[in-house]
Amino acid sequence: MYPRAPMEVSPASPGELGVQLANLIATVTEKQGAPPFGEVLRAAMSDPDGGGLGYAARSHGRLVSYAFAAPNPDGRVWTLEVADGSGQQDRFLNDVARGLDAAGIEETVLWLHAPDIEPPALFTHERDLYRMAVRLPVPGTVRPPAGVRFAGFDVRRDARALIEVNNRAFDGHPEQGEWSLQDLERRTSLPWFDARGVRTGWVDHRLVAFHWTKVHDTPAPDGGALGEIYVLAVDPAFLGRGLGRAIALEGLDYLSRHRRATRAILYVDSANIAAVKLYRRLGFATEHTDRAYRRTRSG
Ligand SMILES: CC(C)(COP(=O)(O)OP(=O)(O)OC[C@H]1O[C@@H](n2cnc3c(N)ncnc32)[C@H](O)[C@@H]1OP(=O)(O)O)[C@@H](O)C(=O)NCCC(=O)NCCS
Repeated sequence: MYPRAPMEVSPASPGELGVQLANLIATVTEKQGAPPFGEVLRAAMSDPDGGGLGYAARSHGRLVSYAFAAPNPDGRVWTLEVADGSGQQDRFLNDVARGLDAAGIEETVLWLHAPDIEPPALFTHERDLYRMAVRLPVPGTVRPPAGVRFAGFDVRRDARALIEVNNRAFDGHPEQGEWSLQDLERRTSLPWFDARGVRTGWVDHRLVAFHWTKVHDTPAPDGGALGEIYVLAVDPAFLGRGLGRAIALEGLDYLSRHRRATRAILYVDSANIAAVKLYRRLGFATEHTDRAYRRTRSG
């Protein structure tokens, strides 16, 4: 066995690491086939007032690993992700966990995006998230169920109605539930946001479902645009009537016809039976699994 390379771990903000961090993220993304930081933490990392905490591991002065944590909307549980290029992820995470303990953080959920990784010693496996993908266009006729009208989204007029359906549909969900107007505004101000890509379903004047689509900056492998089912939700009072399937098709059709997407991806909790079944029926297949681990502060 080779001796472990010396590694120093210290707090560091993404801003102060600049291009070194960008290079590390690019290398780790390439190696593990998925970006180490998800969208929520990427947004928190670019917000100097976001209240997140970062830790850098350096070996011989070179940045070899980086971890970043930020509070969930509930303010109690923190999300942690790590770009590890050191080959000593568990050791790095021990130091990070100690840092988070010292900062008084009670509960941390660590998301690992690399396949076949050893489960981290200080954390307990909690849930898995599938990344599913399909080629576009998917076969199927876009038609709203009887009594439902599909439309676009007006950020000012429809924001509260959308939040209400979102929070009812994702009641108790750790990241997607309990959205505030601010949470919504943060997302509608993202550079890729496209109001026409938020397809909505209405019964009379009531918003009952929505399908928020996204188009990625990086193209699909065949050179076409890469689309995403970013959020799909049906009001719990309107479940089981074919609305989920219909509005999913409506959004995929928008991606394919108006945004020239040739592939769509989505992220779904493996335990979300209804959604996984709906997506499989539409032709989506699982291409990657992210794993979540939880840790409660010791002592
Ligand atoms: C997933 C969701 C959109 C489905 O909406 P819906 O309007 O009830 O779905 P549909 O009536 O169009 O049904 C679509 C398919 O999913 C299946 N399905 C729906 N609910 C199901 C359930 N509870 N258990 C098993 N299968 C279910 C249906 O049987 C149907 O399959 P079929 O075509 O073989 O009959 C809805 O449950 C929802 O909003 N859930 C909360 C938010 C969420 O989890 N969104 C997805 C996150 S990625």
